[in-house]
Amino acid sequence: MSYDLILENGTLVLPWGEAEADIAVKNGKIAAIGANLGQAAERFNAKGLHVLPGVIDPHVHFRDGGKGGIEGVEDMLSGSLGAVLGGVTACFDMPNTNPAGVDVATLQAKHDYINGHSWCDIGIFAGATMDNLDETGMLESLPGVCAMKVFAGSSTGNLLVADDVSIERLMRSGRRRVSFHSEDEERLQERKAEFEKGGPYSDHYVWRDVECAFKGTRRITAIAELTGRPAHILHVSTAEEFAFLREHKDLMGCEVLVNHLLQAAPEVYERLGGYAVMNPPLREKRHMDAAWAAVADGTVDNIGSDHAPHPRANKEKPWPAVAAGLTGVQTMLPLMLSQVNEGRFSLLRLAQLMAEGPARIYGAVGKGRIVAGNDADFSVVALKAKRRIENDWIASQCGWTPFDGMDCTGWPMATIIRGQVVMYEGQVTGEPMGRPVNFRS
Ligand code: DOR
Ligand code: ZN
Repeated sequence: MSYDLILENGTLVLPWGEAEADIAVKNGKIAAIGANLGQAAERFNAKGLHVLPGVIDPHVHFRDGGKGGIEGVEDMLSGSLGAVLGGVTACFDMPNTNPAGVDVATLQAKHDYINGHSWCDIGIFAGATMDNLDETGMLESLPGVCAMKVFAGSSTGNLLVADDVSIERLMRSGRRRVSFHSEDEERLQERKAEFEKGGPYSDHYVWRDVECAFKGTRRITAIAELTGRPAHILHVSTAEEFAFLREHKDLMGCEVLVNHLLQAAPEVYERLGGYAVMNPPLREKRHMDAAWAAVADGTVDNIGSDHAPHPRANKEKPWPAVAAGLTGVQTMLPLMLSQVNEGRFSLLRLAQLMAEGPARIYGAVGKGRIVAGNDADFSVVALKAKRRIENDWIASQCGWTPFDGMDCTGWPMATIIRGQVVMYEGQVTGEPMGRPVNFRS
């Protein structure tokens, strides 16, 4: 037997723990794991490196609905370039694009567009609107679609399904897990007038307060229980929601963002101004502590970046005109590896939250774990490498990161997708060969 590729001499992060072993790849899949695997067309020496299951960022906004993105901001090619430079092998892309991914024609066009326009594999969120509430069963089973995404509170773009009756209708069509931006629209609107006159950037988390997020999450959980339909609360940002979701794990999934784990108010607003503004907002340290506790006890199912690029001009507008959203797909893995080195969590737990978790939550076929038969997707990292994150490393067309100047310990050295080395030591190799991800129906 001759394989296409053997990764040798590395430390593997298998689902059940770390192991010194080699991996043989054939036809893009993991063919064998063990020692002395024999002949291969290509060999990758991972000596001194850790081989993680391909990291998935299940929450990105690449701004590209299949007809090109926004010039100077992002498109699928530049967004996915950032992903693979950052050691990410697959991204699940949100529907608030132009055109919005909310109907069969657009979702199929976006699926076909992935070939030749992406460096990494892509899953597609289908967006809920007031016009497609009864079609979610059909939209969520289209090829490449990871889930329905519901904006229950308004954010960037105009996708919104805010009232209980409509959310219940949507939850009664289809059966897969539905993902929610859960900030409560009624509370956002009730309190908007108080803040419209303007104020410091930190007013962002005073307006979009704890109750706004918590109320939305309570309402969605009640509808999930009423309909028996599983849901996923994206970017959970409050201690109150983590405590609540801990009691509702039967139906509810829980995502936390890198930013909510690493950046806290008021300091982050003083330091970064508009470059700290995102939805849901960065909040005080007690919420950050609760997020780490929820990582430690298993309440959190996955970590995401919510990569949401905006041009500098829009990030530098005064509050509340400032655009909400931060880049993150390229920096998430080095930042989280640094937290492993800080002793915050183990490399195994990182792999669970950044590869296995998103694959399980969305039912991604062949992804998330280094096991025989799965896709040969690997994030190969140097756990002790010291590097600095800088704006000029960022591939996103907007050209900035809220982590500019941050020193990291732990860095992605290679990104391998279905057996192809797509990134090696900071350089991409070959042509963009990303494909749509398959999901269990
Ligand atoms: O901060 C955010 N930015 N939150 C969202 O919900 C949307 C995102 C964007 O698309 O800019
Ligand atoms: Zn988002």
